Amino acid sequence: MAIDKIGVVGCGLMGSGIAEVAAKAGCDVIVYEISDAAIEAGRARIENSLARGVKSGKLEESSRDEILGRIRYVSDYAPFADRDLVIEAVAENEEIKTAVFRSLDEALTSPHTIIASNTSSIPIMKLAMATRRPEKVVGLHFFNPVPVMKLVEIVRSLLTDDETAATTERFMTERLGKKVVKSQDRAGFIVNALLVPYQLAAIRMLESGFATAEDIDTGVTEGLAHPMGPLTLADLIGLDTILAVAESLYAEFKEQLYAPPPLLCRMVEAGLLGRKSGRGFFDYSK
Ligand SMILES: NC(=O)c1ccc[n+]([C@@H]2O[C@H](COP(=O)([O-])OP(=O)(O)OC[C@H]3O[C@@H](n4cnc5c(N)ncnc54)[C@H](O)[C@@H]3O)[C@@H](O)[C@H]2O)c1
Repeated sequence: MAIDKIGVVGCGLMGSGIAEVAAKAGCDVIVYEISDAAIEAGRARIENSLARGVKSGKLEESSRDEILGRIRYVSDYAPFADRDLVIEAVAENEEIKTAVFRSLDEALTSPHTIIASNTSSIPIMKLAMATRRPEKVVGLHFFNPVPVMKLVEIVRSLLTDDETAATTERFMTERLGKKVVKSQDRAGFIVNALLVPYQLAAIRMLESGFATAEDIDTGVTEGLAHPMGPLTLADLIGLDTILAVAESLYAEFKEQLYAPPPLLCRMVEAGLLGRKSGRGFFDYSK
């Protein structure tokens, strides 16, 4: 089955990147957002990202206009009826995602439509069971920023059929040029099951007064040659997302290393979400 018509639900950090790469690959893209204001914010994210491409000389102005012309914005699910693949990228919250999957299941009229989630940590089976087509549901976990990062984790639930898995893998590698790794349907999949306990350890280190945020990150960038430290990376991902992923991992495995530290909980309650809110472990307001 060929995939040409894409739906993206949520046009935040990740959804905007997913819509951009799909439109760059020549797909017809419809983006869902909850309100006009959210549509405008999402549209601005995509336009700014493409403007950076033009400014750096990597993208022609005419190509940018063609890419933008392939993306439509909506705030109901009816236009998704004819989509080949719908990728959900709303907040990392099981209740919200389940409600989105239920709405999609009602709106999609074609039996061949594949529904994917970009969840970082929620088991795909939980989302698949909110639909009447669990065999067509798969996890497609992209990385941030989507136009730059090549990796995608493909996650099959126990009920995902072979055709759905093969079609999505072909689309990711051949059309979007992504590098695919496959994970069992376990909270956190491969990368976040490794990354998040490391970030939580850095937050506990800061919380206990063991070292400053600057020194923790410098230790990792200079000592391990990572491109950024764990706290800078947490700010980039969004502390609300890190907390949600930690909660899913803890709920799945009940292991202490996944338990969210109180400092992370307090920061999220305070709205200190990292780069997207202007302040997290570091200050981005200036
Ligand atoms: N941030 C990352 O680095 C990263 C990386 C990989 C995967 N993810 C996953 O991608 C998903 C989206 O994360 P994000 O960082 O783009 O979040 P975000 O907060 O930047 O964007 C979420 C968007 O979804 C929209 N939305 C659309 N329909 C919604 C609905 N019914 N209810 C609530 N919101 C709705 C919101 O308006 C918002 O714009 C999450 O599942 C997250 O775990 C995030």
